[in-house]
Amino acid sequence: DKGNYRHYMAKEIHEQPEVVGRALAHYLDLAKGTVRLPFELPFDPKALTRVTISACGTAFYAGVVARYWLERFARLPVDIDIASEFRYREAPLAEGGLMIVVSQSGETADTLAALRYAKAEGQHVLAIVNVDTSTIARESEIAAPILAGPEIGVASTKAFTCQLAVFACLALALGRARGVLSEAQEKALVAELIATPALMAQALKNEARVEPLARDVARASSALYLGRGPAYPLALEGALKLKELSYIHAEGYAAGELKHGPIALIDYAMPVIVLAPHDASLEKTVSNLQEVAARGGHLILIGPESARKAAAADLAGFLEMPEEAAGAFAALVYAIPAQLLAYHVAVFMGKDVDQPRNLAKSVTVE
Ligand code: M6R
Repeated sequence: DKGNYRHYMAKEIHEQPEVVGRALAHYLDLAKGTVRLPFELPFDPKALTRVTISACGTAFYAGVVARYWLERFARLPVDIDIASEFRYREAPLAEGGLMIVVSQSGETADTLAALRYAKAEGQHVLAIVNVDTSTIARESEIAAPILAGPEIGVASTKAFTCQLAVFACLALALGRARGVLSEAQEKALVAELIATPALMAQALKNEARVEPLARDVARASSALYLGRGPAYPLALEGALKLKELSYIHAEGYAAGELKHGPIALIDYAMPVIVLAPHDASLEKTVSNLQEVAARGGHLILIGPESARKAAAADLAGFLEMPEEAAGAFAALVYAIPAQLLAYHVAVFMGKDVDQPRNLAKSVTVE
C-alpha cells in the first residue's frame, strides 16, 4: 500500500524517521541512554582483532560508513569488500574474527557466498538483515534485524538508514565493551543517535526545495558526487541512486581524490554535488569545492548554512541542511537529500521510479 504517496519509494523515504527511531529503540536502552544489544555476542569483544564486512550495492555503502564508526569508536581494524569480489579473493581470515554481512533481502547470492566463505574460515557471522526469514538470516550465527518493514521500491532507501542505525549501535556497543568508550562518551553518542530521527524529519521538510535542483540535474548527462569521511560513501550512494532511477551517469568520489583525475571532467554543464556536513573535514571539503568553482564547475552544495558561508563560491544550487546534523551520525540525515534528489530527477524525467529498467529487488543469481 502506497498510502498517499505516488510511489513506494516516496513512501519509504518518508518513513525513515519512524523506522530508524524504531530500529534505535530496539538497540538502545532509551531510559538509560545507553546501548543495549538484543542478543549476546558469541565472542569476547576485547579479544576481537579484526572485522570483515561484505555486501552488495547500497548495503555495501552502509558498511563503508560503518567502517568509520567501528574504527573510531571501537578501535577495530575493518576490512570491507563487495561480496562478488570478496567471495573469490581467498582472503585469509584469522580464526575467531567477526564477519558482518549486510543485506536487505537476505537472499543476495554473492553476499550469501561471502557469508559461507567466512564461516568456513572460522569467523563468527553476524548478518544485518531486513527479512528475518531469509537464507542469510538463517545461516548467520546472529541475525541483527533492521526493522525497516517491507521495502518495495527497487532502490533501497529506508533499509539503508536502518542498516546505518544498527551499525552505529553495534559500533558503540563494541567500543564500550572493549573499553574504548567511557560511559559518558557512550551516553553522549547515544544522545546524538536519539536526536537523529528528528533531524531526518527536518531534512524531509526540504523536499520542495529539492525539485528545482532535480530539474537542473535532469538536464545533465553525467554528475559527480563528492564527500569526505562518512560522507564519502554517501557520495557513492547518491551516485548509485541517480544512476538507478534516472539512468544519468553518475560517479561518487572521495573529495580528496578530485585532483587525482576527476577534476579533468569539470565544466559548466556537469553537476558536482557536494555533501558537506559540518564535521571535522568540512574545511577540506570546502577547499575541494572551491577547486571546482575556480574551474567554472556547476556546483550544488548540500550542507548547512555555515558550509555555504565557508564556501563563498558561486553555487548553481544549495540545499540547506540542519546545522545540528554535524556529528558522527550525520550520514543518516544526509542520506535523505541524496535519495530525494535522485527520486525527483527520475519523476521529472518520467522514469519508472519503483521499477527501474533492468533491475531486480533481490539479486539471487551471481
Ligand atoms: O538485498 P540486498 O541488500 O542484499 O541487496 C543489495 C543490492 O542489490 C541493493 O542494495 C541494490 O544496490 C539496490 N538496488 C540499491 O538501491
